[in-house]
Amino acid sequence: MDKNTDKQAREILESNDKGGFTVPTGGLYPYQWNWDSVFVALGFATFDESRAVKEIETLFEAQWEDGFLPHIVFRRDDPDYFPGPSFWKAGAGIPSSGITQPPVAASVISALWSSIADAGIRDRLAALFPKLLAWHRWFLEYRVPAEAGAVVITHPWESGRDNSPEWDAPASSIDVSNIKPYTRRDLKHAEAHMRPTKEDYDRYIALVEFGRRTGWDHAVIANEGPFRVADVGMTMILLRATRDLLDLAHKLGHSDVIHELKSHRARLEQGADYLWDDSANTYCSRDTITGRHSGFVTNASFLYAYGGVGSAGQRAHMAEHWNRISARAEYMLPSHDPDDSHFDHMRYWRGPIWMVVNYMLAKGFEEQGMAEWNARIAADSERLIREHGFNEAFSPVTGSGTGGSGFSWTAAMWLAWCGNEA
Ligand code: GLC
Repeated sequence: MDKNTDKQAREILESNDKGGFTVPTGGLYPYQWNWDSVFVALGFATFDESRAVKEIETLFEAQWEDGFLPHIVFRRDDPDYFPGPSFWKAGAGIPSSGITQPPVAASVISALWSSIADAGIRDRLAALFPKLLAWHRWFLEYRVPAEAGAVVITHPWESGRDNSPEWDAPASSIDVSNIKPYTRRDLKHAEAHMRPTKEDYDRYIALVEFGRRTGWDHAVIANEGPFRVADVGMTMILLRATRDLLDLAHKLGHSDVIHELKSHRARLEQGADYLWDDSANTYCSRDTITGRHSGFVTNASFLYAYGGVGSAGQRAHMAEHWNRISARAEYMLPSHDPDDSHFDHMRYWRGPIWMVVNYMLAKGFEEQGMAEWNARIAADSERLIREHGFNEAFSPVTGSGTGGSGFSWTAAMWLAWCGNEA
């Protein structure tokens, strides 16, 4: 345990706390982000359990009637961020974005349930169960087509891995000819070589304009949207979250939904197979419009352990990838394959390491008895933060920080995981 670094981590969470919700970092991301907040709750739980639960409660205040939980909650307008609430025009009560993000909430709530003894706080966790269930049902209804069984994203930002090369081919057919002129704000806060390109950004904006034109009708977006990709990260995360929700249902006595959740689980397990690419021998994302796999090995590919899937043969192929990548990378695990030409060690999701993905990877490896991989991920993560600070992400080559600094979820992962592992 490193007292000084622990103190810094707590200070980051406290200074990014805007009163019941935490921003990922000042400047670059001035609102509440969905999966950031959920991971941040794990950090708060190490010193203030009530505040931890509050973070998830405020997030769910923005849940829509159909169960959908938005990726950004806009509690106030900040002219420094684009696209903001007046551009999205979404959310019934609290303004929000119209797309979602990886459903890590059930897993985190289940972890908090196991570690928190206070009866009052446990009651608040139990009260979140129906909301979690509604969100999972939303996914199964709109985003898990029967023929795929995997989770389909309708905007790259839903994946949380915003500009992974996995989205390049599927996004290339998005029509950007009609988008209105706009001004990016992210480049005021981070250097251009770390951020998505203009071409990527035009596509992001075109997809937001498409959703807005439908009035954020989730059925229309799911059936007719120009970008519909079965995402390996989302699929493994929802599969894992489904198992955790099932476990919570047992513990909380919700026997009426056990059967339904087991059928969600079975569908998502089938989805994992849909995402296995026989020619690249890896789990990866797959365009549901063209049927094509990305063929890329990313950090999300290795979430198969967290999702608890993979035959002996598939795991052996993944081990070959691991051995190849770990021999090359100074730090594990790069968000993109260092042997691929798209690899860029400083650019968003095209190489850099994210602590929250490392946390899920380590958890999966640990549970599956893959002790060496778990140890490597935990040690590298600890070293990155200790030597380079609480950055948004880190170069797997040099360790230097990329994107924003003073980052909430990096601080949370230090407190809840890698800072207290070694
Ligand atoms: C970036 C990341 C996304 C994250 C957000 C706020 O958009 O790609 O995963 O939620 O920043 O940290």
